Amino acid sequence: MGQPWWQGAVGYEIYVRSFLDDDGDGLGDLAGVRAKLPYLADLGVDIVWLTPFYPSPQADHGYDVADYLDVDPRFGTLDVLLALTTEAHELGLRLVIDLVPNHTSDHHPWFVDSRASRDAEYRDFYVWRDPAPDGGPPNNWVSHFGGPAWTFDETTGQYYMHLFLPEQPDLNWAEPRVCAAFEDILDTWFSRGIDGVRIDVAHSLVEDPEFRDNPLLGEGIEQAEDDDPSPDPTTARLVFDRFVHVHDVDQPGVVDIYRDWNVVAAKHDALLLGEVYILDPIKLHRYVTDDALHAAFCFDTLKLAWDADEVRDTLRPYVEVSGDALAWPLSSHDDPHAATRFGGGARGARRALAYFTFLCGLPGAPFLYQGDELGLEDGHLETGVASDPIAVRNPGTIGRDAVRTPMPWEPGPGFGFTTGEPWLPFGSNRTDETTVAAQLGFPGSHLERTRELLATRRRLSALTNGSPTEWITDEGPVVVIERGEEVLVALHVGDGDGPAELVLPEGCRLAFATMAEVELIGDTLYLPEDSAAIIELEPTEDGEEPMLDAEERALMDRAAADQDLARMSGDDTGIGNDGAGGANG
Ligand code: GLC
Repeated sequence: MGQPWWQGAVGYEIYVRSFLDDDGDGLGDLAGVRAKLPYLADLGVDIVWLTPFYPSPQADHGYDVADYLDVDPRFGTLDVLLALTTEAHELGLRLVIDLVPNHTSDHHPWFVDSRASRDAEYRDFYVWRDPAPDGGPPNNWVSHFGGPAWTFDETTGQYYMHLFLPEQPDLNWAEPRVCAAFEDILDTWFSRGIDGVRIDVAHSLVEDPEFRDNPLLGEGIEQAEDDDPSPDPTTARLVFDRFVHVHDVDQPGVVDIYRDWNVVAAKHDALLLGEVYILDPIKLHRYVTDDALHAAFCFDTLKLAWDADEVRDTLRPYVEVSGDALAWPLSSHDDPHAATRFGGGARGARRALAYFTFLCGLPGAPFLYQGDELGLEDGHLETGVASDPIAVRNPGTIGRDAVRTPMPWEPGPGFGFTTGEPWLPFGSNRTDETTVAAQLGFPGSHLERTRELLATRRRLSALTNGSPTEWITDEGPVVVIERGEEVLVALHVGDGDGPAELVLPEGCRLAFATMAEVELIGDTLYLPEDSAAIIELEPTEDGEEPMLDAEERALMDRAAADQDLARMSGDDTGIGNDGAGGANG
């Protein structure tokens, strides 16, 4: 049996609202996505993930779904989506759509019916509870976006639960008809040719059956809400973060749902990729084992500071526990672009590319967010723009708007994104130089280096075939991993440490470097700060994979392994490290 099609794939997240506007209404659409499929295929990604395009009042920009099986006319039609899917396949791309099973829109017909009366047909599709004895919410749970997780409904005299906006009522996954409905939804999309789903807040869905209060981390919640006038964009989440979420997320039972979905997906060879926001390798692993999800995002990649120990200590346990069942986002529509997170400017972009090169060296699937291939920073927006519900609910903050500003394709007033008025400003830091047109075809540009990186990754099968990962350095500013004794990836995470020199085994070849200043002279790799390199340890003559039959390849692999073993054994690994921290075996 061959490996699953998603093993070793590279993903690309499209925030549909901001990718490309084909009809000039200022909002990105599916026709825009369709037009850029050749761009994505040329870039060298394998999986294209589309954020929600479903009919929706857009209270949370589409993560409030009113119909799971259709397309909002603002984004196009089902026919356009299906044509786009066929064209993606013709270009060798796989299409993954966003599925939002934790909650619906309050405009979804299920909820409209559910709130009509206590004995409505769909009443139990949602989480309804009586008020507490004092008339307040049934427990102390709060919404991710701030405020209580409960809204009182006058008509039926009960509260409904929402871990996000009141316009996003939570579905009741204890109700078997909800489970059945979603298995049908999955089956329908996969039958339509969609290759997989990215599952929104996949760790939620199930709640404590007794609806017990969550313990507080610190002082009272009122204090956090009332006394904190901070304009920090994460203020709303601070309230959420004041609690230990032992009863509202990551409950026993949620993984069982994915075991049932796995059966549906298997019929279609489709991918289940979870947004499992759990920053713990062991807990996360439960979602990707025993025939549950095929893969889950590791969100710690979005948290790491530019610090070699942090990179090693944080990512290594994930790799050791879940290996290639993980997806590694560089940025996302919920988090800052990597170039911004790493300090912005030329240095931020350099670091973002180097870090992505490292993610490309890990087993599993690295994911770019649109614009990452340009080294794009978040848009600089005036406060007061407020489109994201986090920003709307927390006046004076920007929330996630800055990471969602439209994609700059080419110089000009609408940056090639729209001929109309963009739904969100581009940001005052967008210039002609930040566009795709300014980088496409220019060797050394962020875009061209990203394309070269992805081509290199594709060529070096040890990076994509699940080969084991060995962590070569356990201290010093250079993080080095080796895959299957064939490929080595080195990332210089220094900050004032100066360039590093690494002595490598004889006969290596520099397959990819993020900067022209990276050099392999003889057996010594010169790695400036904020750079990364991919090294072939056993390069073939022309840099291509030799065409061998299976038996020849097995013999050669065995001989190479023996040689490697001989070379690597003894008093060092063959990898010296001068000025870049120690090497371990
Ligand atoms: C996920 C999405 C985010 C959305 C939330 C609620 O975290 O990525 O954009 O607001 O779920 O659906």
